[in-house]
Amino acid sequence: MITSQHPGLSSWPGCLVECHSVRLILDTDPGVDDALAIMYLAAQEDAEIVAVGSVHGNVPAAAGALNALRVLELVELAPPVTVGAARPLAQPLQTAEFVHGEDGLGGHAGPPPKGTVAPGSAAEQIVRLARANPGELTLLALGPLTNVALAVLLEPDLPSLLRSVVVMGGAVTVPGNITPYADANFYHDPEAADLVLGAGFPELILVALDATEQARVGTEWLAALAEVKSPRADFANNLLDHYGQFYSNMFGEHSCTLHDPLAAAIALDPKLAGYRKMPLGVELTGTHTRGQVVSDLRSISSDAYISTKAGAGRAPVKVAESVDVPAFLDLMFAALKD
Ligand code: BDR
Ligand code: CA
Repeated sequence: MITSQHPGLSSWPGCLVECHSVRLILDTDPGVDDALAIMYLAAQEDAEIVAVGSVHGNVPAAAGALNALRVLELVELAPPVTVGAARPLAQPLQTAEFVHGEDGLGGHAGPPPKGTVAPGSAAEQIVRLARANPGELTLLALGPLTNVALAVLLEPDLPSLLRSVVVMGGAVTVPGNITPYADANFYHDPEAADLVLGAGFPELILVALDATEQARVGTEWLAALAEVKSPRADFANNLLDHYGQFYSNMFGEHSCTLHDPLAAAIALDPKLAGYRKMPLGVELTGTHTRGQVVSDLRSISSDAYISTKAGAGRAPVKVAESVDVPAFLDLMFAALKD
């Protein structure tokens, strides 16, 4: 992880050859797997977290910001952390402590962080940084898309100001998790998810459950990490114990799915996945299917047939399909063991 300010895609002291870094704005709702994603990013030489914004989701936005500060302090990073949207655009707040624990970190949040949140909102921070660094920053969104949608509304040119956007959310060809049809991030703000998918980002990678459900660690991987003793590994093991317990109760097997860490890894190295390009929308009115990703998966030319309005005319999204799971799990293990 790069700790100093540097000019991004260029060289800086310490690199013998030109170093290429991915400069990230992180939008997150920590959240056990969000915390693990921050730890993953912190361990990578080619990543710089420029700023963090919290969003409602797994826990309320204010609690998520404090959790982000806690994890960043553990990994000795100090980007500004702003508090983001406190509620979704068009529905009441719903959080997911039943998955992530009352404190969002599986009961392991510990004492308050030493640092404090930065002034301003997460959406304003995205806009300010994107304007100041046109074409340079990758926005990695690991929670509901409320802040990103607000940023698009504040700055309609946002799609051309960002280098790329990587979103963890949705379920395109597989079942949902929080409902049979929707993943938690899209379900927690369907209007925001639909707005972002239709905003015209030229490079939008969607790391949906289709990809993340492949990134599941089991007993052996968890046991190997549990052998490692260090402050960071101890924290990761505590989080994974909690998460594993949830999965055991839910699915009857000791495992956990590394949703947000996989999205973080793909943001740094898109070659970890193969993609299918398609325009996407989000179901906003379905009685049972609100928050579901809507796509036209027919192999026919849909022009000649009735089209779904949801994706029609929209810029295609790169949906991660195949994942190099062994490579990702090795990277993840290495990141958490130090
Ligand atoms: C997503 O929902 C949250 O619970 C996780 O942090 C992840 O971002 C998975 O559907
Ligand atoms: Ca998350």
